[in-house]
Amino acid sequence: MPSAAVLQSLEPLKREALTAWLREERPARLEQLWQAADEVRQAHVGGEVHLRGLIEISNYCIRLCAYCGLRAPNTELKRYRMTEEEILACARQAHALGYGTVVLQSGEDPLLSREMIARLVRRIKDSLPLAVTLSLGERSPEDWATWRQAGADRYLLRFETSNPHLFRKYHPPKGEQRETRIEMLRQLRALGYEVGSGVMIGIPGQTYDDLADDLLMFRELDLDMIGVGPFIVHPRTPLADPGFRVLVPDGDQVPANELMTYKTVALTRLLCPRANIPSTTALATLNRERGRELGLVRGANIVMPNLTPPRYRVYYEIYPNKACIQESAEACHVCLRSRIESLGRPIGRGPGESPNYRARRGEADGLDAAM
Ligand code: 5AD
Ligand code: FES
Repeated sequence: MPSAAVLQSLEPLKREALTAWLREERPARLEQLWQAADEVRQAHVGGEVHLRGLIEISNYCIRLCAYCGLRAPNTELKRYRMTEEEILACARQAHALGYGTVVLQSGEDPLLSREMIARLVRRIKDSLPLAVTLSLGERSPEDWATWRQAGADRYLLRFETSNPHLFRKYHPPKGEQRETRIEMLRQLRALGYEVGSGVMIGIPGQTYDDLADDLLMFRELDLDMIGVGPFIVHPRTPLADPGFRVLVPDGDQVPANELMTYKTVALTRLLCPRANIPSTTALATLNRERGRELGLVRGANIVMPNLTPPRYRVYYEIYPNKACIQESAEACHVCLRSRIESLGRPIGRGPGESPNYRARRGEADGLDAAM
């Protein structure tokens, strides 16, 4: 079946067509899916692989997410918060290594104040030609607006699962629940951010229908960036206890494995052709030899080399055995470069915003000009 036929099989965008692909096991059919995703990636976002320098600025977190090792009750974890100067030094290193973007990521840490982050964003934007992506969890609309005004370009907030029952059970609200994450993503969009989201694959209780709904939600939200990765059990979280997990019949549970991740990456590319899609560290964790590369030839176009100083990095333990946990920024840089070159793909230059976002801004500018 040529690629056009793979695409056709997804029209009209029915859940059943997606679940059929998610359940597909026949190597020849999967080969067609990979090829279709690779062609669509090439046609819409090109061959470049963009690098985003990841800086894990704090592992403090006030939340109780049942899947995540940074959750507040994990008292075994040593906590750290980088200083502004340390973060700026990493941003300078990102620029020196040729990256066009830094991603500042943390647990939900209220001591990263609105003012401190705004000042940091301003200092980065004033001194370096970098796009700044923030991934600091659920913050107030005022925080988000202030950071946007300070120059932040993008915001990442995964909705984790579109199944509200699973989301509530695994992601208890803090105090009074405000909007849903879907609504928060719309707020971020309205503030002019380039918006990224994503889900985990194979969390206990996630069915094929749930994952198909996640994919349809990516499309509905018209996301600029979409990150997906396999769920990996962390021993110091509630999900390590089988009694805590939501159970569904065996044949309905999505496995948290490498193949399911590639299928999800490929289908995401087919549904959202212009989005930026990373080949994630969680994928590299399942297959250290080839995980990143296989993600990149099955729909992904982004990788996120880690710039966090190793003395902190070891404590950013969202899940165990994370790839690259002991490496230096230079080691990840050299490693990723050679992996990308081995695929014959060029390394992207500049900020590498999603063509989706560019088109939206273009339309907005066009409207402004017309008024
Ligand atoms: N396994 C895989 N991914 C996880 N994340 C959090 N905990 C885990 C886990 N145990 C993902 C979530 C979060 C992102 C930063 O890491 O999707 O948004
Ligand atoms: Fe970190 Fe390969 S990317 S060592």
